Amino acid sequence: MFQINQHYTELQGSYLFSRIASKVRAYEAEHPEEEIIRLGIGDVTLPLAPAVIKALHAAVDEMAVKETFRGYAPDLGYEFLRAAIRDHDYKSRGADIEIDEIFISDGAKSDTGNIGDIFSASCRAAICDPVYPVYLDSNVMDGRAGSYLPETGRYSNILYMPCTEENGFIPQIPSEKADMIYLCFPNNPTGMTISKEELQKWVDYALENGSVILYDAAYEAYIRDENAVHTIYECEGADRCAIEFRSFSKNAGFTGTRLGFTVVPKKLKCGDISLNALWARRHGTKFNGTAYIIQRAGEAVYSEEGQRQTKEQVDYYMKNASLILEGLKEAGYTAYGGVNAPYIWLKTPDEMTSWEFFDSLLWKAHVVGTPGSGFGPCGEHFFRLTAFGSLEDTQRAMERIRNFSC
Ligand code: MLT
Repeated sequence: MFQINQHYTELQGSYLFSRIASKVRAYEAEHPEEEIIRLGIGDVTLPLAPAVIKALHAAVDEMAVKETFRGYAPDLGYEFLRAAIRDHDYKSRGADIEIDEIFISDGAKSDTGNIGDIFSASCRAAICDPVYPVYLDSNVMDGRAGSYLPETGRYSNILYMPCTEENGFIPQIPSEKADMIYLCFPNNPTGMTISKEELQKWVDYALENGSVILYDAAYEAYIRDENAVHTIYECEGADRCAIEFRSFSKNAGFTGTRLGFTVVPKKLKCGDISLNALWARRHGTKFNGTAYIIQRAGEAVYSEEGQRQTKEQVDYYMKNASLILEGLKEAGYTAYGGVNAPYIWLKTPDEMTSWEFFDSLLWKAHVVGTPGSGFGPCGEHFFRLTAFGSLEDTQRAMERIRNFSC
């Protein structure tokens, strides 16, 4: 008889956003007359920028002609896109990242979920609490998490790094030894960001302790603070201890189009073994490349027009973010984030649990958000709203929230 990967049975409940979607579907089935405003999952609502659409059309036309038709994309991505990434995201910030250190993929979710393939199951992973659920769940699947402890809502082998109101939602460097450290800045879900000086301390810790930092910078385009760090490779020595994940979903609206990349520097080694070579091997074996037309669309994001248009989109969402943040404060809520990130992290009133607040907001105000406890035990009594709705929906949602009593 075949055996399953037992670690999957250690996973708790369903994936957070699937659970929310099924609760909303159930509510809609019972109340088809109510119009629901969705500020739950961080999914964009603006159409792709004109420069991106133009590039997509041109690439589709190329695929219709024998001479310009393309079959399998190169495993690691087309050079035209990797060169644009190198120049715009790294060289421009003084980070010496080369084309062969950039791996094109279908998004940061897949890469942050799959990166565990190249690490031993015996590694100790340090994960923030609250956290984007993919980091934790993929470690559970890989057998790195240990057993689930219902009394704490935590796994025995994970090193949790609490991000609370008391520490300004910034994790403290662990006092125990961590092998793999997951960091995400600007942060999902709390919306906090980190300065270069603070991030340098993590890099120093990783270099001293032989740890690898898995740095998710998917929300980099939302940074407004001049001191905040855009890429971990701005820090000294990060190319010897860090892997960075990026996405085109939030800066250019590719949530449905799928495009991202991961940087694995060649200097990053475990003994003599290069992680770049391991990831290339993994990518080459299990991934058949992102579609040519999508990579051309990604290249267009870096054109002058593309940069201007996508920046306008980010600014649009950031206006929503400040509308939500200010609206919540006016309504008497304690709220964080929303300044360098498209997420607003609010405290539930009267000690309500995150799911109680979710139900109340859905049933009474017909607004969907994300319960903080879905991101980890330290997210309990918090709730996340996203700025990715339309301006009109955001305004209406805030009107409803102002007039709503739990
Ligand atoms: C979120 O809402 O946290 C994100 O949209 C999820 C994702 O990017 O996969």
